[in-house]
Amino acid sequence: MEKYLINPNQKISKIRKEIYGNFSEHLGRCIYEGMYVGEKSKIPNINGMRCDVVNALKEMGLPVLRWPGGCFADEYHWMDGIGPKENRKKMINTHWGGVIEDNSFGTHEFFELCRQIGCEPYICGNVGSGTVQEMSDWIQYITFEGISPMSELRKKNGREEPWKLKYFGIGNENWGCGGNMRPEFYADLYRRFQTYVRQYGDNKIFKIAGGANVDDYNWTEVLMRNAHWLMDGLSLHYYSYEYRWEEKKPATGFTKEGFYRIMRNALRMEELVRRHSEIMDKYDPDKRVAMVVDEWGNWFAPKPGTNPGFLEQDNSVTDALVAGITLNIFNNHSDRIRVANLAQAVNVLQAPVLTQGDKIVLTPTWHVLHQYKGHQGATLLGTSAAYSYCGVKDVPDYNRSLRGIEAKEDVIVPGLSVSASEKDAAEKTGAKKQYLVTVTNVDAESSKEVEISFANLDGTIKSATATIVTGEKYDTINSFENPEVVTEKALSVKITDGNSVSISLPAHSVAAVTVLA
Ligand code: AHR
Repeated sequence: MEKYLINPNQKISKIRKEIYGNFSEHLGRCIYEGMYVGEKSKIPNINGMRCDVVNALKEMGLPVLRWPGGCFADEYHWMDGIGPKENRKKMINTHWGGVIEDNSFGTHEFFELCRQIGCEPYICGNVGSGTVQEMSDWIQYITFEGISPMSELRKKNGREEPWKLKYFGIGNENWGCGGNMRPEFYADLYRRFQTYVRQYGDNKIFKIAGGANVDDYNWTEVLMRNAHWLMDGLSLHYYSYEYRWEEKKPATGFTKEGFYRIMRNALRMEELVRRHSEIMDKYDPDKRVAMVVDEWGNWFAPKPGTNPGFLEQDNSVTDALVAGITLNIFNNHSDRIRVANLAQAVNVLQAPVLTQGDKIVLTPTWHVLHQYKGHQGATLLGTSAAYSYCGVKDVPDYNRSLRGIEAKEDVIVPGLSVSASEKDAAEKTGAKKQYLVTVTNVDAESSKEVEISFANLDGTIKSATATIVTGEKYDTINSFENPEVVTEKALSVKITDGNSVSISLPAHSVAAVTVLA
């Protein structure tokens, strides 16, 4: 029996809803086809935005959407994407598949998409190939109410009122596709560019500095040392994969060993968050600056038959587990992590939604985000656990073989991960509190009996329900032919006494247990 003890008296931090954000880039079929089909499309749309996708993201509870990149952001010139569509410049999307970008989706369209979804817009500005003036003008165009060249231009383009813009990133991956900069150089550029990201009227922009690649702790150190007082957030990017970044493997068909390697890589997020946080704590002990994990998820080899630059991949139970594990990590570090964006929203990488013509598939990842929705805005509670480990032994050590050393290793991971939160219960339930406990079982083969106990509840549990996301195999997918193989199903929960519940968690599964007390 695996055991969790949840302590409702240990209220740690608020889980900001923005931890459950997505990322949408001008990449492959994410924006075009996936979200935006244009007003003249036969696919049902409102102002060009596909209704099925908008509804799916709304139902998933998407709180914030990051745009226009990614690597695309540091080559994007926003003025190309405003004004009459027939006059908008066409360009080559050099990063992603070398296709023509006709700029028919630009600033006005992005705000319209966010309005329809009901989410906060998060825009990433161009530092790599843009100018301070260009960035400053964009902010003025979007948020300035009075008379100015940019607000007049916005009005001429049909938008009288300014929009509200909260989240703004000063560049993307400036250590790589965003300019190949050294941290010292980028820190200085950050200081300069952010100066002209003005706060107009009552619009308060939350400024996000471009952060580290994976475990580049020096980047975080330099940025925090040189600019922490000028930023509201510092980003972090980390993708998980099966084998090696340079040699990605397919999204399905991996062996048990491959499965555990993916789990181990996903669980590495915990270490990255902890170590980057320790550096942030040195300069910002009050945790004013948020960690913004604005790109995360699984990155597999492109699906055969697709443009390799479009980063399309299937989405299976393994993705559901990676989503569940990662979101538990984010919840458990919500004192520092306040925004996160899964890459990407539609058709790209670990997408919650896939489209093909007028068809749509809600992936296993969608179902996990939906299961975890109740954590948004809730209070994180302290947990302690006793659980077993699982994995494979005596398999090739690929990292050491890269250095010419033939060696074996064990790939062993903690079997379960958990996070728990508390909210006031709805009045009609007659209960005072609603607890949501999300648990993942990464054991490839064995189910686990899990007991979840609450300290200090004085036997007041009134009811408990649960859902489960799993599939026959760890790489079972939802396809366009069979779109509902992996969905949220009811899982039975036993109330063992007024303070505890227990569930039987199948192999490779994600559960969400709701308790009213
Ligand atoms: O999400 C795909 C790409 O991954 C983004 O454009 C870039 O920021 C990252 O390297």
